[in-house]
Amino acid sequence: MAQQKKDAPIGMFDSGVGGVSVLREAMKMLPGEQFIFYGDTLHAPYGTKTREEVLQLSCSVAEKLISMGAKAIVIACNTATSAAAKELRQTYSLPIIAMEPALKPASALHKDGYVLSLATPGTIRGEKYQQLLQKYGEGVESLPCPGMMEFVEKGETDTESLHRFLTDLFAPYKGIMPEAIVLGCTHYVFLKRAIQRHFPGVPLIDGNEGTVRQLKHMLEENDLLAEEGSVGGVTLLSSGDPDAVKLMEKLMNSKE
Ligand code: DGL
Repeated sequence: MAQQKKDAPIGMFDSGVGGVSVLREAMKMLPGEQFIFYGDTLHAPYGTKTREEVLQLSCSVAEKLISMGAKAIVIACNTATSAAAKELRQTYSLPIIAMEPALKPASALHKDGYVLSLATPGTIRGEKYQQLLQKYGEGVESLPCPGMMEFVEKGETDTESLHRFLTDLFAPYKGIMPEAIVLGCTHYVFLKRAIQRHFPGVPLIDGNEGTVRQLKHMLEENDLLAEEGSVGGVTLLSSGDPDAVKLMEKLMNSKE
């Protein structure tokens, strides 16, 4: 593979700022890589749109990143993964890395209770999630969470209105604590602390680390890893309000 290709950036996208939870993990594991992160904030949320709409939006974002020279694409969004990963892989020959709701690792914690799986309506409806449920869905309660990612988009990770929202959302599950909670949307990772307040001591599991490991593996396999000693970096972009980039920077450095 030409040197120039190894130096090329990794393109990563989400409907908004949530994918930054994947980005910061990727920058830790691959410190020599250049990243371009694109939040499609103008069209967020994806999770309540039809599959066709999300497919179209995801394709146009991926095309943008490829035209910017991306050597690989990471779909840092579970909803876009379920709507578009297959089509993107059929269309482009570069590595396309996608999310997977962490039902498999959560199933290891399932005994005689239940696992609560939080995701967008689009993800839960999608074929990929339904297939995972068939394999690892024993004891899983899937809870679509429309309206939840919007708190993260507003920079609200610990406000009173967020806690009111979560209190209503989780009311049916308060009687019996789940054995584990799956965070099946990259935005929800920034709400870990808030969710934990409602379910103290319950393990919260996301798919970010697995996705980044897969990214590393794909880069190695395709001889696309940046040369040793390369200096990494990131360019943050948003299709909507430029303030979203400021929020991305804040979230990159947050402890959430
Ligand atoms: N962050 C996204 C996900 O992982 C999507 C949230 C949304 O746009 O509804 O599903």
